[in-house]
Amino acid sequence: MKTTILFLAGLFILNFLPSCVSSVEKEEPSEKKIQELISKMTLDEKLGQMSQFDPFQFGNEENMKQAVRDGKVGSILNLVGAKKTNEIQKIAVEESRLGIPVIIGRDVIHGYRTIMPIPLGMAASWNSELTKKAMAVAAEEAASEGIHWTFAPMIDISRDPRWGRIAESCGEDTYLTSVMAEAMVKGFQGDDLSNPKTIAACAKHYVGYGAAEGGRDYNTTNIPEVLLRNDYLPPFKAAKDAGVATFMSAFNDLNGVPTSGNEFTLKQILRNEWGFNGMVVSDWSSITEMIQHGYAADKKEAALKALKAGVDMEMASNSYVENVQVLLDEGKIDRTTIDRYVANILRIKFELGLFDHPFTPEDAAEKTILSEKNMAVAKEAASESFVLLQNKNEILPLSKDISSVAVIGPLADAPHDQMGTWVFDGKKENSVTPLTALKQKLGPEKVHFAKGLEISRTKSTEGFSEAIKAAQKSDAVLLFLGEEAILSGEAHCLANLNLQGAQNELLDVIAATGKPVVLVVMAGRQLTIGSALEKAHAVLYAWAPGTMGGPAIADMLFGDTAPSGKLPVTFLKTVGQIPLYYNHTNTGRPATYGQWTDINKIPAEAVQHSLGNTSHYLDAGFEPLFPFGFGLTYTTFNYSELQLSSKTMGIDGSIMVSVTLQNTGRREASEVVQLYIRDRAGSVTRPVKQLKGFKKVSLKPGEKQKIDIPLNAKDLSFYNGTAYVVEPGDFDVWMGTSSASGLHGEFSIN
Ligand code: BGC
Repeated sequence: MKTTILFLAGLFILNFLPSCVSSVEKEEPSEKKIQELISKMTLDEKLGQMSQFDPFQFGNEENMKQAVRDGKVGSILNLVGAKKTNEIQKIAVEESRLGIPVIIGRDVIHGYRTIMPIPLGMAASWNSELTKKAMAVAAEEAASEGIHWTFAPMIDISRDPRWGRIAESCGEDTYLTSVMAEAMVKGFQGDDLSNPKTIAACAKHYVGYGAAEGGRDYNTTNIPEVLLRNDYLPPFKAAKDAGVATFMSAFNDLNGVPTSGNEFTLKQILRNEWGFNGMVVSDWSSITEMIQHGYAADKKEAALKALKAGVDMEMASNSYVENVQVLLDEGKIDRTTIDRYVANILRIKFELGLFDHPFTPEDAAEKTILSEKNMAVAKEAASESFVLLQNKNEILPLSKDISSVAVIGPLADAPHDQMGTWVFDGKKENSVTPLTALKQKLGPEKVHFAKGLEISRTKSTEGFSEAIKAAQKSDAVLLFLGEEAILSGEAHCLANLNLQGAQNELLDVIAATGKPVVLVVMAGRQLTIGSALEKAHAVLYAWAPGTMGGPAIADMLFGDTAPSGKLPVTFLKTVGQIPLYYNHTNTGRPATYGQWTDINKIPAEAVQHSLGNTSHYLDAGFEPLFPFGFGLTYTTFNYSELQLSSKTMGIDGSIMVSVTLQNTGRREASEVVQLYIRDRAGSVTRPVKQLKGFKKVSLKPGEKQKIDIPLNAKDLSFYNGTAYVVEPGDFDVWMGTSSASGLHGEFSIN
């Protein structure tokens, strides 16, 4: 096959030049001020700028203030509230020798006080505009409390639901995560970082952290360069292109080199290839953890390796402060490197306008926090994140004329848990639970509530009889199962993804009442809920929906809204299928049901041979429970007339792929039209399908619309081990409702 190489160098120039030019133009005045400041700084002051601490690390408030006064602190994380941050800022700008403001960081992951769905849920909305709006709300609320910088978005590709942090991710797909990365960065940062309603974003965790071995947090990652560049890096590149102010290096050891000391990823790729001129912060103590990794003998070597790789600011550990002087004396690093890192940090402070407006108005918070507008965005975001997985006999939506419903389950009224993981500032008092919302919607007399289980892990079945009674006296059961917030997130990994505690047993006894059961699952990850599908009539997957999860669920169950979410991850039949993701490569014996499709039908002492067998499990097959991109709604959509504007394109060309979508059901609803391609043969093996575009559209009953999605040859480029290439050859294209279905067409690149 003739290979056309878009030379790597050419790509860098294309990518690098515009950002260089614009940043030079934009930053010229502050660049001068930055250099002036640096020329006045002592080494201690420079190292102060390169250090970030949590207040508790100072021992007490007075020590913190003194350290700021002495110019020893460039950044503080986890200090919140305008009063507190202003007090510290006043010391920095008025009492420290050079008056450099501190930058205050915080994990504002999916909302500040108004909590949005977890990022995995936001990704399920497949709605980048809404995601941007949701993050803008988070930014405005956080900024009103003195926060300048969030450690988000987390854009680690995650293909292992055992990993607790999958909740914080946008799921398994590179393209969807890249789209969401851009939306989140733009949402947090707006068009202008100096706007007091915006905050700096941070693309994390750079890079590969989501591929932790066995789904155990902090674990080793081994990702060959082809996979790294094709699957794991693009979301970070998208964040960079969207103008993200900062990157965070990660905890993981990547191919033997911890990412916080990794010259290949931080220096070669991020700085040299992509031309990133913002700031890189380490993860919490990830520099000194290189000692435990066995990559540095001591703090001094850890500092040296992080400095050489290009980590500008050290979070929480203090290897820089303690060792840079010696490293300079020994000639292992030079002063210009240190000055460059300090410049990267000061540049953000200038861009945020901290030198001109260091303080946060103390009345800003009350104007925005939990405002009606913010709560409305949270409700919309929750609503769009829900994925309808099953709806037997179109049991949903329920009629509002129903005489009564039973609301059962440990998550029906769990205001803390519905916020999900990694929430520092959201308060459960502000959550509206499904129980509260359903009572409001139907009238309290129509709702029979019984928890059944105290929390998701409860094993005692004591509460079952009350739950059965509630079910028996109702027309339908709304059963809220899943997992508590604490079961996902950092360091909260699971080896078993079934419903915890006695939740399956609760479902059994409720189903046995013969009442129609609508199961709503709230969880930080995809759980293995296969057996529940047989017992429940409808299943709505609601992730951890945030502050307004309850009203969003109540509206959807009773048809005031229709589901429109699609899975951002593959759902598994059993945990043993991991890793299972839609965009895998094909193998030489692609999965089909071969000789044995059912382990129970294999005769005793059957002769073992390989012929006719393919890549699948005897006991779990190869299919997922639900494929990536899947999601039902209250209407039906018909796809027809797949058209390609041309059957061929050049290596720098493009075509338009179109389909006619019609709402063939009785209700207005949205559909996410998804475009997938397959490159049939390449200089390295290509995935069986890859998402390359999507459009979310709302259609009234009977309405028809032609949906156009452009496909550029450059979107089909990939890294083949030597260079980024667009290769001539034949391609398949599908447009459809999920990764497992769609109208098929063909085109070629020549
Ligand atoms: C996490 C980061 C987070 C940081 C600061 C670390 O443990 O890995 O994602 O931003 O803490 O809270």
